[in-house]
Amino acid sequence: MISDESVAAAVDAALTAIAAAEDSTALKAARGAHVGEASVLSRLNATLRDVAKDQKAAAGKLMGQARARVAQALAERESEIVAHEEEVRLEAEFVDVTALPTRARAGARHPLSLLQERIADIFVGMGWEVAEGPELESEWFNFDALNFAPDHPARAMQDTFFIDPVESHLLLRTHTSPVQVRSLLSRELPVYVIAPGRVYRTDELDATHTPVFMQVEGIAIDKGLTMAHLRGTLEHFARAMFGEGAKIRLRPNYFPFTEPSAEMDVWQPNAKGGARWVEWGGCGMVNPNVLLSAGIDPEEYQGFAFGMGIERTLQFRNDLNDMRDMVEGDIRFSQQFGMVV
Ligand code: PHE
Repeated sequence: MISDESVAAAVDAALTAIAAAEDSTALKAARGAHVGEASVLSRLNATLRDVAKDQKAAAGKLMGQARARVAQALAERESEIVAHEEEVRLEAEFVDVTALPTRARAGARHPLSLLQERIADIFVGMGWEVAEGPELESEWFNFDALNFAPDHPARAMQDTFFIDPVESHLLLRTHTSPVQVRSLLSRELPVYVIAPGRVYRTDELDATHTPVFMQVEGIAIDKGLTMAHLRGTLEHFARAMFGEGAKIRLRPNYFPFTEPSAEMDVWQPNAKGGARWVEWGGCGMVNPNVLLSAGIDPEEYQGFAFGMGIERTLQFRNDLNDMRDMVEGDIRFSQQFGMVV
């Protein structure tokens, strides 16, 4: 029944719900509940037709005012909510056009790669070529072709990672010397080749050892090469690596693939703690048996070979104490060597 009280109660309920609506979804719900077809106000309005004629004008006015008030409250609350939601959205979509862009940090090349390339450059400058060989190598290239007899104790000199099954006769190469034989088999003579690359030995990682390290192999085969050529080549290499005052010293040693063989020390004139001799690598005149393995007549061709560790070379050149810094991959280590590309 339309009465001041019933209409006022419906209006109050509607205004309370509208004021309590926090967002457009809640306001839509309040609109449905308080002005929709099933709402109290709509139902009261529908009873207008039953009101006695003499009271119809007053009841109609009452209903009209009530509905207008609710409609106005709805409109006001709606514009508040829309404004608020707009503000929240703008805030969320805020773009600071003056902000600095986040840039990808430039990387640094690994000092071992840089040194490897530098070494290759020194030899390319003398007319040598750069060769590569596989790290997964056959036992024949790693040992047999290099004159290691099957039961020769020298095989045990190099702690080898063999690949399962053993009948595959595959291993992770223990030195770069198999590239000597590979180069001789695949190239025309004379051969002047430098072969840098990774090698593997079953060493524990500590300050002076790593199970994966890099060597650089050199081999020269030509007519009439002597140990004087070997010495001259190594002296030049040493000076390019360690400065003009560098020189080398050879001490007799044994390798199955060279005869005579020598251990090579380098005089490092600019070492931090003062000039010193450091053990740098192995070398020698290529053993005739190696030449025969590659189908070369040792009466006609001779040559020399040498090999040294690149990590060790980097260690001496840059006075590094701990080899682990070279393998851990912390970019702060590499960055000290410059951002050379
Ligand atoms: N391959 C030898 C090693 O790893 C080094 C070497 C290379 C010695 C060439 C002589 C000639 O110890």
